[in-house]
Amino acid sequence: MAVKRQAAPTITLICLILLLLRQSVRTFAEKLKWDENGYVLYCPCMGRFGNQADHFLGSLAFAKMLNRTLAVPPWIVYRHHSPPYTNVHVPYSEFFQLEALSAYHRVVSLEDFMEKLAPKHWPPGQRNAYCFDTAAQRSADKKTCPMKDGNPFGPFWDYVGVDFDKSFLFGGISFSVYHQPQWNKKFPPSEHPVLALPGAPAQFPVIEEHVGLQRYVVWSDKMVKEGEEHIATLLTRPYVGIHLRIGIDWQNACKLLESGDAGPHFMASPQCVGYSRQAALPLTMTMCLPDLAEIRRAVKLWVKRTSARSVFIATDSESHSRDIEKLFKGKVKVASLQPDSAQMDLYVLSKADHFIGNCVSSFSAFVKRDRDVRGLPSSFFGMDKPGKVTKKEEL
Ligand SMILES: *[C@@H]1O[C@H](CO)[C@@H](O)[C@H](O)[C@H]1NC(C)=O
Repeated sequence: MAVKRQAAPTITLICLILLLLRQSVRTFAEKLKWDENGYVLYCPCMGRFGNQADHFLGSLAFAKMLNRTLAVPPWIVYRHHSPPYTNVHVPYSEFFQLEALSAYHRVVSLEDFMEKLAPKHWPPGQRNAYCFDTAAQRSADKKTCPMKDGNPFGPFWDYVGVDFDKSFLFGGISFSVYHQPQWNKKFPPSEHPVLALPGAPAQFPVIEEHVGLQRYVVWSDKMVKEGEEHIATLLTRPYVGIHLRIGIDWQNACKLLESGDAGPHFMASPQCVGYSRQAALPLTMTMCLPDLAEIRRAVKLWVKRTSARSVFIATDSESHSRDIEKLFKGKVKVASLQPDSAQMDLYVLSKADHFIGNCVSSFSAFVKRDRDVRGLPSSFFGMDKPGKVTKKEEL
């Protein structure tokens, strides 16, 4: 009895805390105050998820540099081979927690911005576009930003119901910290509250300084729940996760390496050869496009090293699951997701006991960064020990 009487106040306290927590979550979603320091809006119009994620980290840093709130865009998912045969715009919070970004910088979802702030503060008639003068060269009058020209540009701004009224051009400045004063001088928030850009104000691949921002990209509760269910049903720990980027488009891309013109920096490759161009490790064809022999070699090595009991395969085409099963004479379970979903693949890969990725792929890069911030090990096909070439070693 005494125990029960003591528990009562504790329960009341817990209830109170839960109530307060719920209210603060609601405040985050409902009460949006206009930021006098302005906003950055952009279309994640280059590439699929991996590229969009790289660009997102840079854009987040750009918004912070200008001390403007970032209107976080939805992910553009290209569904041209299956229903609805068109672009799907998936709100950021479907996959990741929007609130987790606030630990780094002020954000609002683009959807909330449009619904709750734009009607009053950025009404039709005042919607300016901002772009490089070189981009405007493509327009008929050479003075208009190509905000909605073609796919995915048009469908993206249509999704949030935006037409642009006027264009402001810039040139001779970049998105780096070096040009921060110029940005604020050219476009002060008082006169230019909303910087809407046709593409991400960021580089691809993500620059070294921004790689660590991945820690603020935190899986949504829904993804965690579904992902953990998949892991529990499909796999037995320890498991090795592998990303096979070997489809026909990739085979064509990797051909550019054969000529030797691409150099060690090719798409996401700085993640394994190092960010310094001078000190970069060589990028081989096997790293870009591992053949079956290399896939078997690497999987065998890491299954042995980690005493793995299962292997998870995420692939853009062929899974080679039979070949991998044969390697272990049925003693190691081999699984993939059916039907596959890019983000669920990413989740399962990011939770693996060991990850083998493709050095050149930005999809693999997402997993590698996600694991790095949590101290989990990764390697690449063609490179068992990823290079860590830092600026210091260069000296
Ligand atoms: C950045 O913006 C916030 C919100 O508008 C403001 O409170 C803060 O003073 C700004 N910081 C600087 C250094 O201007």
